[in-house]
Amino acid sequence: MVNKDWIGTKASTFKCLGASNHTNHEREKNDYYATDPIASELLLKIEPQLDNIWEPSVGEGHLAEPLRKEGKLKIVSDLVDRGYYPEDIKYKYSIDFLEFKKPWKGDIVTNPPYSVAQSFVEHSLSLIDDKHYVAMFLKLTFCEGKERRKFFENYPPIRIYVSSSRILCAMNGEFEKPKKDKNGSICVDKEGNTIMQKQSSAACYAWFIWQKGYKDPTELKWFN
Ligand SMILES: C[S@@+](CC[C@H](N)C(=O)[O-])C[C@H]1O[C@@H](n2cnc3c(N)ncnc32)[C@H](O)[C@@H]1O
Repeated sequence: MVNKDWIGTKASTFKCLGASNHTNHEREKNDYYATDPIASELLLKIEPQLDNIWEPSVGEGHLAEPLRKEGKLKIVSDLVDRGYYPEDIKYKYSIDFLEFKKPWKGDIVTNPPYSVAQSFVEHSLSLIDDKHYVAMFLKLTFCEGKERRKFFENYPPIRIYVSSSRILCAMNGEFEKPKKDKNGSICVDKEGNTIMQKQSSAACYAWFIWQKGYKDPTELKWFN
């Protein structure tokens, strides 16, 4: 059952980033890749006008937290409850963003499920008022393809910022994994603790910024 409004949302007395009762298998479903929070910290530096933000596929809140700390975040939601319960803003889970029809009087920022990223952009633009912003953290390959070209002609982003040093989006929020030797065995330290290793990013991402109503050429920039 998909809820369609925010009624009934209750702020929790604790905040939890990264904790959830879901199994890995459940969490991997629905295209779950957590974004290194540095992405939204930097977003606010390059697009400081963003405000009154809805993060509609929030995951465990990795992108949302820097926005919340700067007082820019208004609401978060996701199809799946991944255990992000910010105490000072509204949250609502079991929300299919693409089915949500109420207009939004602010901006929309997320790293969407990649398989429906274009639908997320189109739907976001349909919900906001003219001059408001949609900021999506997407693989640079989002630019590719004949159909995508048509989409960009209809909806030119106002700016695209390519990430010049890689930013990690980690499957299931696992930014670190056990280190393995060349035989595939997990490495442990002298005390027998598993040695963890930071994951590296194989993809190049960019911030794509749309301003509703903008029809001029896209400015291409770089950040970080
Ligand atoms: C790539 S992850 C990004 C999570 C978070 N935005 C971040 O950057 O850390 C995509 C998220 O979209 C959620 N999702 C998938 N389909 C959705 C839908 N139709 N409506 C809302 N959320 C959806 C998934 O549950 C997942 O948490």
